[in-house]
Amino acid sequence: MYKDKKVVFSGVQPSGQLTIGNYLGAIKNFSAYSEEYRCYYCVVDEHAITVRQNPADLRRRTYETLALYMACGLDPEKNVLFVQSHVSGHAELGWILDCYTMFGELSRMTQFKDKSAKNADNINAGLFTYPALMAADILLYQTEFVPVGSDQKQHLELARDVAERFNRIHGDTFVVPEPLINSTSSARIMSLAEPTKKMSKSDENENATVRILDPRDVIIKKFKRAVTDSGSEIRASEDKPGVTNLMSIYGAFTGKSFEETEREFEGKGYGDFKLAVGEACADALAPVQAEFKRLVADKKYLEEIMLKGAREAAHDSLRTMSKVRRKVGFTEMPRF
Ligand code: TRP
Repeated sequence: MYKDKKVVFSGVQPSGQLTIGNYLGAIKNFSAYSEEYRCYYCVVDEHAITVRQNPADLRRRTYETLALYMACGLDPEKNVLFVQSHVSGHAELGWILDCYTMFGELSRMTQFKDKSAKNADNINAGLFTYPALMAADILLYQTEFVPVGSDQKQHLELARDVAERFNRIHGDTFVVPEPLINSTSSARIMSLAEPTKKMSKSDENENATVRILDPRDVIIKKFKRAVTDSGSEIRASEDKPGVTNLMSIYGAFTGKSFEETEREFEGKGYGDFKLAVGEACADALAPVQAEFKRLVADKKYLEEIMLKGAREAAHDSLRTMSKVRRKVGFTEMPRF
């Protein structure tokens, strides 16, 4: 019975294409959580419009992101897969939490600073209050754990601060969420162009990232171009960040340890190794890509999943919403 389960919530923007870093470091592990937790995975289209979007593209990518979640192994029977804008509580609680989030706190968010530098012609209020909406996503479901990458840690900290502040003012209302750090496969995948930097889906250098949906020949080509280190040995060490990253990726896709990989490629050069990593990656992603293709062609089915997810999420959000409405002093909702 899910009511006894602790809650996991995560969101992904329907913008940019997810990378093997998102896959290995996050999504691939998500399917295992449903045994232990009540899991919500949300396509956050309301967050996406903080930067200007082409509406037709946004709509298409919303379907695609849902399909990709499922292709990566998230079962809609075992998880709540839904679209943020289909559940009005997100925007509603987002507004309320705006009023419990300080200007100074938001000004310190490094992602806001980065994004406003990149979008100097469109520094809108939504971009600024984005973390309060993210806090609403999380707090709406009384979330205990949020699987997040390092880039979202500061936003999660803010969500905790807002929850604590609200609880202090109004009495216990929200569960204060914790980051969920994956212990089994904490694969931190680095950029193929600058292996001391995390692989990022928004990297402008296409050769830095491998996307989950990249075709096989593109994957192999990108690994061929991957930056390696001086020397020629296939060995994991701190002074060989490029090779070490490739070994982590190889290990994540094949299950081989660093020692096994070192043995396998003893006496061989970077060229052979990079080809093997590319092939292992392409082989592992092939079934995900095939499933994605099948799902994306079936819009009607995706809409059924959206409906089911929105129904469950909306239902579950009502308890928090009515509690919050009461606490802040809104009058009872008239029944239409
Ligand atoms: N801000 C997150 C990102 O850009 C996406 C997101 C929105 C999210 N709401 C969330 C992540 C709630 C975790 C929990 O990656």
